[in-house]
Amino acid sequence: MANQQLSTRHLLGIKYITPDDIDLIFETTDQFKEVINRPIKKVPSLRDVTIANLFFENSTRTRISFELAERRLSADTINFSASSSSVSKGETLLDTVNNILSMKVDMVVMRHPAPGAHMYLSKHITANIINAGDGTHEHPTQALLDAYSIKERLGSVRGKKVVIIGDIKHSRVALSNIYCLNKLGAEVKLCGPPTLMPKHIESLGVKVEHNLKKALEWCDVANVLRIQLERQQTKYFPSLREYSMYYGLTREVLNSLSKPIVIMHPGPINRGVEISSDIADSEHSIILQQVENGVAVRMAVLYLLADKRD
Ligand code: CP
Repeated sequence: MANQQLSTRHLLGIKYITPDDIDLIFETTDQFKEVINRPIKKVPSLRDVTIANLFFENSTRTRISFELAERRLSADTINFSASSSSVSKGETLLDTVNNILSMKVDMVVMRHPAPGAHMYLSKHITANIINAGDGTHEHPTQALLDAYSIKERLGSVRGKKVVIIGDIKHSRVALSNIYCLNKLGAEVKLCGPPTLMPKHIESLGVKVEHNLKKALEWCDVANVLRIQLERQQTKYFPSLREYSMYYGLTREVLNSLSKPIVIMHPGPINRGVEISSDIADSEHSIILQQVENGVAVRMAVLYLLADKRD
């Protein structure tokens, strides 16, 4: 395995890591992909490491993927979900985490609805922290697995044209992807209704195109996002049907393009809203490869951060 080290002891966001860190994570991911395709998919690398998976917000892919990655690395794990914990009795985040850490936990994987919750914790605890999603802020391992999947499909990320479509305003996946793709030398365009586009987003080095057909004609890869109704306190468009008419990816839209493009989605998918079922399941879609790569990418992140323990 790689003998280089990451520049950081936490993964709080893609904003805080370097292009060299990302390259190291991808090289390590290549090696773990080989491991998880062997008949015996397990290595003893984290045999002496205890990891707490703290999920204060729902998750299917990320939680299962981290749990599997930890088992494949032979780590000891504890799983915590806020709904069945004493958080509902008024315990603070710091008290909850400190109580768990007092049981000799080395690393924390956390999803939390509050943007910045991980940054706050990193100033108060010694365990290594991995952000598994903080509200509308960042979802770094999702961006890493997305970029890794682009590299795997197209040979490289540098110079590729990637459009991110949909609810950019509420999407941590969009922000982490913007940071990650920029650091790896891709060109990034955002597409969606003006009401779901954050003001001044171009200052992050991306372009905005509101016309779906034009955005798709420009790109090599389309990363399609879900409308995050659970984070919307106001109506940003008249109805899901109207959203779908203007921004839904369908066979008809893709057939009208001059070349095939790669289709991605971080999940969960709302079939028939942002993407039609036949496109989600088509030969152009790498949605399930993204999920598969998620395990190896997370193994790489855990393995490299474990090397940075106190
Ligand atoms: N992509 C993603 O974060 O999915 P989950 O919410 O199911 O973890």
